[in-house]
Amino acid sequence: MDGNGRWAKRRFLPRIAGHKRGVEAVRSVVRFCTDRGVEYLTLFAFSSENWRRPPEEVSFLMQLFIVALQQEVKKLHENGIRFKVIGDLSRFEPQLVNLIQDAELLTSGNTGLTLTVAANYGGRWDIMQAANRMLKDHPEFVSGFSESDFAPYLALDYAPEPDLFIRTGGEQRISNFVLWQLAYSELYFTDLLWPDFDSAALDLAIASYQQRERRFGRTSEQLPQPSA
Ligand code: IPE
Ligand code: MG
Repeated sequence: MDGNGRWAKRRFLPRIAGHKRGVEAVRSVVRFCTDRGVEYLTLFAFSSENWRRPPEEVSFLMQLFIVALQQEVKKLHENGIRFKVIGDLSRFEPQLVNLIQDAELLTSGNTGLTLTVAANYGGRWDIMQAANRMLKDHPEFVSGFSESDFAPYLALDYAPEPDLFIRTGGEQRISNFVLWQLAYSELYFTDLLWPDFDSAALDLAIASYQQRERRFGRTSEQLPQPSA
């Protein structure tokens, strides 16, 4: 979700006004996904590199996360949404960690959309924590292990690999998002700034996805033919 700062700057507003509008965009994208039967939505909200921002902006973002959890979790639950957070929570203040844990627990039995927020997340961090945890459980794996030994230790172990990756804000980079699972995802980049990303924009992204042929290394001819 990129472009909040520029959205605000264009309107001569402080960057934090863009982050506030960004939360509105999250709300409408979550509603859209629930309505369309999307099963997994993962939002990159705060990267392990975002701590480098000015301290006032970082603390505003933390505050915004706290307020959003306080205001939205009940509604998420009523809508059957399962809420999860991935990332290194050790740097967050206890109030935020408690809200996250309560929200995860409350919604853990829900069977609708699984909404994951990546916070203090980094794809390399994830691969390293997975490797470390795996080797603790299985010291014998130092002499070799398989993808299926490793994958269950990744933070998103409960979700299938993403079909579609969307980045807003014009940059064409993955910026350390879920590196392992993006291996075969379709990548979609849009110049729209995150606060402007609405249901029409999401429709366009999905339409683009539907045009693509996913071969997973095979040839076109090997794929099942669409029935006439
Ligand atoms: C939101 O957009 C991403 C967050 C870390 C919350 P930015 O804050 O990166 O916006 P730009 O890139 O400065 O426009
Ligand atoms: Mg940015």
